Amino acid sequence: MRIDVLTIFPEFLATPLEVSVIGRARTDGLLDVRLHDLREWTLDRHRSVDDAPYGGGAGMVMRADVWIAAAESVWNDVEAPGHLAEVDETPELVHVAGDADRPRTILLTPRGRPLDQELARELAAEERIVICCGRYEGIDERVHDLVATDELSIGDYVLAGGEVAALVLIEAVGRLLPGVLGNAESSQDESFQDGLLEYPHYTRPLTVRGHGVPDVLRSGDHGAVERWRQEQSRELTERRRPDLIAGESDGTG
Ligand code: 6GU
Repeated sequence: MRIDVLTIFPEFLATPLEVSVIGRARTDGLLDVRLHDLREWTLDRHRSVDDAPYGGGAGMVMRADVWIAAAESVWNDVEAPGHLAEVDETPELVHVAGDADRPRTILLTPRGRPLDQELARELAAEERIVICCGRYEGIDERVHDLVATDELSIGDYVLAGGEVAALVLIEAVGRLLPGVLGNAESSQDESFQDGLLEYPHYTRPLTVRGHGVPDVLRSGDHGAVERWRQEQSRELTERRRPDLIAGESDGTG
């Protein structure tokens, strides 16, 4: 799978994406993540990506023209023109802003569809996705209309920008790709897979500060262990996340 990220802070994302599961998936050639600096598509000497809002008010708004130019380059695999570069030949663009068949392009915004395991699985099935990280107070509405095919939020709280949300999304999606997780860490057996939270885990030592391990886990009775785990999963979910059970919106699609 290929993931392109458009951001004004590529360095914010670079190191975290070299580490752990996602870093390994990339070096193993299972996941192709490309970071793009939105400012490469600015046209003025200040490399401005934002401007004052029509209608007035405090704060700045990210410009639609810069976002559209950047997205069209990335969709069509065209190099950024480079800061202040003269583009004397307009490349033939297959995908243009507003077209129905442009690659799946996800704008990260608190007003988007909440990310859950079902959406992560849906996106993991795509050949490629493009992630747009917003910053500042807002983005020109025409970016929502012409660039984004999807708008996604990672929860009901406000971040300063989409960069952290992009890391969350890339990890949630990337770990589902075939071959990314080993058998032992397989995503088949975890929280949300069956719409429930995961059961408690224990390892050595047997006693820690007087706290032991449930006897059933040392009984050698695999059936009993399995029943205990399912029961723990269900109880934990009822206590902590009754909403997951109430709607039976189990995220399994
Ligand atoms: Cl995707 N962006 C921002 N700025 N804030 C958020 C968010 C995204 N998801 C939750 N809060």
